[in-house]
Amino acid sequence: MFKLTQLLLNATLAIVAWGQYYSNTTTYTNPILSAGGADPWVIRHDGWYYMTYTTNDDVSLLRSQILTDWNNAESKVLFTPPPGLNYSTDLWAPELHQLNGTWYVIFTADPRSDSPSPELDMFCPYNCPAIHHRMFVLEGHGSNPWSASFVYKAQLNTYDQFSIDGTYFQHSSGLYHIYSCWYTQYAAWPANLCITKLENPWTVASPFSERQIISVPSLPWEKTPYGRAENDRLSSNEGPQQLTNSRTGQQFLIYSAARSDNRNYCLGLLELAPNGDPMNPSDWRKHQYPVFYQNPAESAYGVGHASFVKSPDETEDWIVYHGMQDPTNGWSARTIRTQPFIWNENGTPNFPKPGYGPYKVPSGQ
Ligand SMILES: *[C@@H]1O[C@H](CO)[C@@H](O)[C@H](O)[C@H]1NC(C)=O
Ligand SMILES: *[C@@H]1O[C@H](CO)[C@@H](O)[C@H](O)[C@H]1NC(C)=O
Ligand SMILES: *[C@@H]1O[C@H](CO)[C@@H](O)[C@H](O)[C@H]1NC(C)=O
Repeated sequence: MFKLTQLLLNATLAIVAWGQYYSNTTTYTNPILSAGGADPWVIRHDGWYYMTYTTNDDVSLLRSQILTDWNNAESKVLFTPPPGLNYSTDLWAPELHQLNGTWYVIFTADPRSDSPSPELDMFCPYNCPAIHHRMFVLEGHGSNPWSASFVYKAQLNTYDQFSIDGTYFQHSSGLYHIYSCWYTQYAAWPANLCITKLENPWTVASPFSERQIISVPSLPWEKTPYGRAENDRLSSNEGPQQLTNSRTGQQFLIYSAARSDNRNYCLGLLELAPNGDPMNPSDWRKHQYPVFYQNPAESAYGVGHASFVKSPDETEDWIVYHGMQDPTNGWSARTIRTQPFIWNENGTPNFPKPGYGPYKVPSGQ
């Protein structure tokens, strides 16, 4: 009798274990990193996914062979800034790029944890948080980012003005820096998207007179609360990311709009005209509605700051982003998620409703 009971129990345990294994290998749920995090950036290289995100104190790198579970990923610190420099604190939104065979990390940082003096605040319409945030570049040599050792390379010139969330935009006409910027040194709001031409990944070629503003948060959904007609204080365009439709060659810039600490944060889309010049603002066309936004039916709020990567077999496109389940907790509520997306007939990306799943794992995983 005892033996039979034991046998049944073992069989039941085996089925449960198999069920867990089975569900783990065919489906996944969001978030993909239970510890929380913001501004995820993922790249796939030689069978590994690499992720960076905002840690504030350093640039850390995670690696995993599985896009949909980072809880057991390996982790290493790529770079810790020395104290007392203009890039020693508030390290935000690092991105890892391989350009002409060399690895670069482009990141935001500031000198004193976002605490401008009253003397400086005086010059701004209300106050100027983040007035000292600037863009910086690390360089690493090696066949993969895990074994490469990274060293500080340079500051990217943004004319001694506010700059965050910078990214590289690669185009047949050259390499560009696109970042979140103010109109002027002390403007404080709104946060726009600026572009400059690069001579190489760490040197800006454009003089200030040639810096262009390619997007301003002018539509109701780019402000928060939604529909705010005046008051640019809570309006932003940030987190720009290049997205290319490989079938049509269309060039998009996906960016985050409204404000990152609340439910209205969402993704907008700019499209570069065919044969357009990235430095010509009128060659960028803004879609009139957000392309990825909150889904209250599933308590998925504040979704934004995305990056894009392929499934292991390269047949599917995936968006990696952050969002909030409880939108009342501001920045600390953000967790990292991923979902697949497809393309519309007209070549624009068709993003899913954000949610928690379970969803089917990426093709080839
Ligand atoms: C499989 O999924 C179950 C339930 O979600 C979880 O408890 C278990 O830790 C997972 N196992 C692995 C190996 O991830
Ligand atoms: C540090 O930042 C301040 C304010 O933006 C700037 O004036 C100064 O030149 C920077 N220092 C260095 C070494 O770049
Ligand atoms: C790679 O190098 C070529 C030749 O020097 C240059 O024209 C191109 O802009 C570079 N690309 C990037 C992304 O730096």
